[in-house]
Amino acid sequence: MMNLRKISLADSGFFFENLNDPEIKKSYNNIPDKITLDDIKQQINKIKDNCFVIEFDGKPIGMRYFWNLGDNIFDTGSWITKDFRRKGFGSIAFEEFVKKFQNDTIFRMKPKNPIAEKFASRNGFIKDRDGFWYFQNK
Ligand SMILES: CC(C)(COP(=O)(O)OP(=O)(O)OC[C@H]1O[C@@H](n2cnc3c(N)ncnc32)[C@H](O)[C@@H]1OP(=O)(O)O)[C@@H](O)C(=O)NCCC(=O)NCCS
Repeated sequence: MMNLRKISLADSGFFFENLNDPEIKKSYNNIPDKITLDDIKQQINKIKDNCFVIEFDGKPIGMRYFWNLGDNIFDTGSWITKDFRRKGFGSIAFEEFVKKFQNDTIFRMKPKNPIAEKFASRNGFIKDRDGFWYFQNK
């Protein structure tokens, strides 16, 4: 069963592994080359109200973050841990994520690679002229 819960310091080890995964590293331009467990703990404290850990059968398999831009628009992004990719988990987690927000919330993302673009398109995001992709919660 899929569940989204708030992140905590107990997730540091899981994040450490994943933020050192080259596939995830190249999709986010803000991950330092040499990231330590201490860096991750500090980051978790900063983002603790803006990040859900995605769990499957009680085990963490990924994360989705959100950042309030005002006017009911949120930036969002996600990763799924290596062994669980391309199995539909990211899409189901996105469906569960949007349920946590009121109707008419708009989500914005900027895919960093063709896979993320396909993911956006497959999950109802529409590309706008500004280069961002938008999804409206209905
Ligand atoms: C992008 C990511 C979050 C998608 O999550 P996921 O659970 O793998 O995606 P899903 O299984 O729900 O796939 C949904 C759609 O995304 C696209 N997709 C996902 N992985 C893909 C791959 N390896 N190749 C091509 N398309 C892919 C497909 O269109 C897919 O639909 P389909 O299977 O019906 O063709 C995950 O692959 C990931 O963490 N990748 C590494 C980090 C990353 O790129 N993050 C995005 C940063 S913007």
